Amino acid sequence: MSDRETAGRVLEHIPYGLYVVGSLNGRVPATMVANWVTQVSFSPPWVAIAVEADSRMREYIGRSGLFSVNILPSGGRDTAKAFLKAPEATGDTIGGKKFERAKNGSPFLVDASASFECRVMRTLEVPDHLVFIGEVVDALLRREGTDVLTLRETGWRYNR
Ligand SMILES: Cc1cc2nc3c(=O)[nH]c(=O)nc-3n(C[C@H](O)[C@H](O)[C@H](O)COP(=O)(O)O)c2cc1C
Repeated sequence: MSDRETAGRVLEHIPYGLYVVGSLNGRVPATMVANWVTQVSFSPPWVAIAVEADSRMREYIGRSGLFSVNILPSGGRDTAKAFLKAPEATGDTIGGKKFERAKNGSPFLVDASASFECRVMRTLEVPDHLVFIGEVVDALLRREGTDVLTLRETGWRYNR
């Protein structure tokens, strides 16, 4: 096995949540599933997400300066499945799932146990992703203390 393959296999041992990340295509909410999400500052609260360099979401987040992160409850694999094809909104649903608007218009899924919206404060280019670092500007807790959906629980992998 090459060093790079070994590194890839080792990095797959990092435990992650499986999130639905949202943004705006103009005024139209758009979404994708993502696991590369982490808090990077307490005060003010900042969160980093890594978005594929050649993806539509990268364009939408870059243009709107906004993204949302929806944390799904454990057992929410079927909900997450609706977002695998990176759907955009029609009416008040995305991928058949209801959403509400955060303060600046990003999608907050009704099925999420918690959601937050970030305004982009920094961007960092890395070889095949763009890291967006955003300040939390709106947050909604729908269900406190619930277990959250993890990448492991879905049985999915993020690879190319
Ligand atoms: C399990 C899983 C995890 C993923 N994690 C990320 C991620 O952290 N960042 C990202 O940009 N794309 C991630 N993706 C890919 C996106 O969900 C999406 O399919 C891709 O960005 C599509 O780009 P498009 O909007 O140009 O069609 C992940 C996909 C899967 C199945």
